[in-house]
Amino acid sequence: MTSPSTLSYTEQIDFAFEYIQKRYPQSPGIGIILGTGLGQLIQHIEIEMEIPYESIPFFPVSTVESHHGKLIFGKLSGKSVVVMKGRFHYYEGYSMKEVTFPVRVMKKLGIGHLFVSNAAGGLNPDYGIGELMIINDHIDLFPENPLRGKNLDAFGVRFPDMSEPYDSSLVKKGMEIAAANGLNVHQGVYAAVQGPNLETKAEYKYLRTIGGDAIGMSTIPEVIVARHMEMTVFAISAITDLCSPGKVRKISLAEVLAGAAKAEPGMSLIIRELVKSL
Ligand code: HPA
Repeated sequence: MTSPSTLSYTEQIDFAFEYIQKRYPQSPGIGIILGTGLGQLIQHIEIEMEIPYESIPFFPVSTVESHHGKLIFGKLSGKSVVVMKGRFHYYEGYSMKEVTFPVRVMKKLGIGHLFVSNAAGGLNPDYGIGELMIINDHIDLFPENPLRGKNLDAFGVRFPDMSEPYDSSLVKKGMEIAAANGLNVHQGVYAAVQGPNLETKAEYKYLRTIGGDAIGMSTIPEVIVARHMEMTVFAISAITDLCSPGKVRKISLAEVLAGAAKAEPGMSLIIRELVKSL
């Protein structure tokens, strides 16, 4: 899609929003970003409209093979949602402004609650492959912050609070849903680095030492931007490989996808039940 490139970032957001709004004039209240290998939730959505990323003005286009980029609008557990199937990673070469562009557009669409999933390595030695971790805090190790630069006053304040990025009542409710359904779900701290290489053993040790329970390459930029706009955030990691001392081994994308597939039914259930409760 060719579009005027002289527009400001905010004008680009407006442009993308107007394009979507023309095709889907409703206002979903809930946004969901699905991580690597975690697209199955879509099977539970009564789909009303799909818009491929490449057709939306100024939307970045996903380059990772395991992602098929599109926005999906519809009903999940009876609630209006928009799902991002495929996200933008910093390691793909996008700036943080590009990575978080869709979250800005979501706000314009009326999203107040953001759900985020990802595939992550387990730093906590108690974690197993295919298990879930509800994120209750994070450590941002990206080299760039999505809020860097002139503040977008129309969206939020210059120095947004991060004392509770992940809504504690949703964390609690998520844990209760897990327990009620016999799922072994942890809660913990998600640390994120830019990637794309996986980490060395010494780096895993460091990440554990500074307080990480899981490690990945996504989520935090979107969460920072969502919190800038005061969205309520719930995020959950599928533990796809183990990164604690003695458990580190070579992993492939196929293994990450297999771990995600194992975690996916539980993740899907927790998100569906949480959405229902909103
Ligand atoms: N690091 C280690 N293991 C992982 C990651 C990561 O960023 N993502 C998924 N598994």
